[in-house]
Amino acid sequence: MEGSRKKDQGNNGIPDIFLPFAAEEVAESLLDWYGLAGRDLPWRQTRDPYRIWLSEIMLQQTTVAAVVGYYQRFLESFPNVTALAEASLAEVIDLWAGLGYYARARNLHAAANILVADYQATFPDSVEGLMQLPGIGRSTAGAIAALAFDQQVPILDANVRRILCRLFALQEPSRLSSAEKKLWAWAELLTPQQRVHDYTQAIMDLGALVCLPRNPLCSECPLKDLCQARCSGLEQQLPLKQPGKQVPQRHAMALLIHRQERYLVRRRPTSGFLGGLWEFPSIDFGAEDFVETQMARLMADHAVCGNPQRLGSINHVYSHFRLDLQLFQLAIDDLSQIGETDTESNWCSLTQLKTLALHGAHQKALEYLGE
Ligand code: ADE
Repeated sequence: MEGSRKKDQGNNGIPDIFLPFAAEEVAESLLDWYGLAGRDLPWRQTRDPYRIWLSEIMLQQTTVAAVVGYYQRFLESFPNVTALAEASLAEVIDLWAGLGYYARARNLHAAANILVADYQATFPDSVEGLMQLPGIGRSTAGAIAALAFDQQVPILDANVRRILCRLFALQEPSRLSSAEKKLWAWAELLTPQQRVHDYTQAIMDLGALVCLPRNPLCSECPLKDLCQARCSGLEQQLPLKQPGKQVPQRHAMALLIHRQERYLVRRRPTSGFLGGLWEFPSIDFGAEDFVETQMARLMADHAVCGNPQRLGSINHVYSHFRLDLQLFQLAIDDLSQIGETDTESNWCSLTQLKTLALHGAHQKALEYLGE
């Protein structure tokens, strides 16, 4: 095995990188393996940047198995970027229901509007151009540029990050900025000039099928002889855990108002946090506030009267805070117990609630509602 030294490529701030093997060996082994073991996925038969963009956004933090059905249904409703831009955000969110991480749906819709307004419904073909659009970071831009436009650019999604941490036996948490620079530099050095499309799909498949987060299947790995973690017996220890992030605690209460086995839900305003998602009537409050006072406020805000009963509580972690959600229920006999509000609302059965675009904590509240 021959080591190789490559010159700084310009943007990673690392002057000189030593690779413990020839970079080309990685692409060759991966491409041979992909020919035999690669998956046949619906977005792999196209070079249409709209379809590739859609698949890459759906696949962020979500498995292939969960995405396939959504991808096909989404394309039936919105076959191109113009159709997506013409839809309302509420329609897009409702079609996204169940896939989670709804900021993706909002960004997709916002980006479609920008593409139609400023790019004549075409896509920029460079990483820099793609990164101007909402919801597209460097790795997603790299994937679109490589898959749709055959640009020789790297990706660094969670799968590739894990592979590179092991391949180079990275001994620091991969989200540190020093580690991040090395990972991007390695990813760039390994990306071949030829067959970038296949290489990009291949490295994603290796992460999904072989270089698994726990118990990697090293005996099946085409890179096993190059992998520095495996050579040092560290494949189970790497990647190192990320240091814990401190996030603030917030408090809220939700009121599950039901009548004839249907529950009242309301749509959040489309702009702002969790915009356009559905939820039970709810209110945020401070740790020092009295529950009774807040319940009175919640009931006044939603123009409802009656005698709520405590149901339980939910803990849910959003990206930048933890939520303690207190749940109450209120059975009403008569619609006159509820006044008019100007938010979009609906009465849904439990079956309907299960497929509604409820946001995370309120989705968990369904566990309290019996079959
Ligand atoms: N994860 C992210 N992008 C992917 C793709 N194109 N194929 C499979 N898994 C992926």
